[in-house]
Amino acid sequence: MNSNFKICVIGMGYVGMSLSLALAEKDYNVTCFDVNKEKIVKLKKGSMYIYEEGFEKSLKKNHNKLTFVEELPKSDFYFICVNTPSLKNGKCDTSRIKDCINNIINISKTATIIIKSTCEIGTCRKMQKMVNKLNANNTVIFSPEFLAQGSAYENSINPDRIVLGGENQKALSILQKIFSAFTQNIYAMDWESAETVKYASNALLATKVSAINEIANLCEKTGANILEVSKAVGEDKRIGKSFLKAGCGFGGSCFEKDLKALMSIAEIHNIDMKVFNATLQANNHQRLTVVEKLKRRLKSLCGKTIAVLGLAFKKGTNDARESVALYVVNELINNRANLKLYDPQACESFKYEFKTKFDKTINENCFYPKIQDAIKNIDACIVLTDWDEIVNLKLKDKNVIIIDGRNCLKYIENSIKVGM
Ligand code: UGA
Repeated sequence: MNSNFKICVIGMGYVGMSLSLALAEKDYNVTCFDVNKEKIVKLKKGSMYIYEEGFEKSLKKNHNKLTFVEELPKSDFYFICVNTPSLKNGKCDTSRIKDCINNIINISKTATIIIKSTCEIGTCRKMQKMVNKLNANNTVIFSPEFLAQGSAYENSINPDRIVLGGENQKALSILQKIFSAFTQNIYAMDWESAETVKYASNALLATKVSAINEIANLCEKTGANILEVSKAVGEDKRIGKSFLKAGCGFGGSCFEKDLKALMSIAEIHNIDMKVFNATLQANNHQRLTVVEKLKRRLKSLCGKTIAVLGLAFKKGTNDARESVALYVVNELINNRANLKLYDPQACESFKYEFKTKFDKTINENCFYPKIQDAIKNIDACIVLTDWDEIVNLKLKDKNVIIIDGRNCLKYIENSIKVGM
């Protein structure tokens, strides 16, 4: 069955790249398209442009099953993996999905279109109506992506579940067959349910993080140890062990964006999502707890030299979108501190995101390629990402105040943890 279908993946971001690699790994031939020609040129040469565990190796291994193209080809299945950024009103911008569908229809009026990009509840039905109005016979299916950056490849090869949303039973059953190469745990449902699964999953995960952070803040006052608390709480299977790591808050391009989109849909239906609103509020507060802790110890941050270790929104990725570091660094700048910034992968993304968010450029001299140089001659150090080299850091100077925003440092006993 593998060789009979022509499969095209549109959008070579984390989602499209991992899907293409995972399909190739299962012996499918995949044509990969992106409007960004630079990306395609690099991929054609066999070089990866994003840092993600497993990508490089799989690209090398499966290069003969992957064709990278600069023009959208004719295909039987098109997987749309383009980004759907937040609009000012919190809704997600689905215009790129719409553009893709129009481009597909110009090439094939029968191909199945699978939307993997996160989109608002109701989007797929609208897209199917648009297709029908254009007198095309394409079927629209929604298949939300659940991969997490840092483990994107592993999540794509071994997904917990596959969700398919749509009305065309024939298309659904072919896709079930394709995805059965990855898991038997496949759920087919209507579009709106599948769209809701994606938002509900991220909203609940984000809420779990905000909830444990709130417990951690209480632990700090009562003398309890959040690490012990989380461990024992997570042993309850109904709660589960994951997403109970307390710290300086969640970041990334998905949680905040998806929560905002969910709340904006709820608002249209006159539903006030109090829990999810609180999740975001709690995270806004949590992101700056590390700076508050520092201020309490140093009184004024003005003129103090502070190292910020970890700019990526989590370890294992070079992505700094909505990373806690953006907010922390901005606050340090507002308090006129001197900065020494370190991240093994995410400096470029951080510079771009910081400029976009705050319209300020950080002096190049503030970035240190080596962690050892970043921690020399400093008054304090804030840890925001638990990269291995940060976790294993050995900082001998006892006078340096260390705020461990991820409660992760292994060898530094005098660090100030979040929630302890
Ligand atoms: C998230 C979801 O986990 C994926 O399932 C989903 O597919 C993805 O969004 C998406 O919608 O595309 P991701 O944003 O890559 O994935 O990263 P997570 O692992 O969920 O981490 C998000 C943030 O929460 C990070 O800043 C992380 O450090 C923080 N976090 C996570 C904690 O502070 N504590 C935890 O226990 C877990």
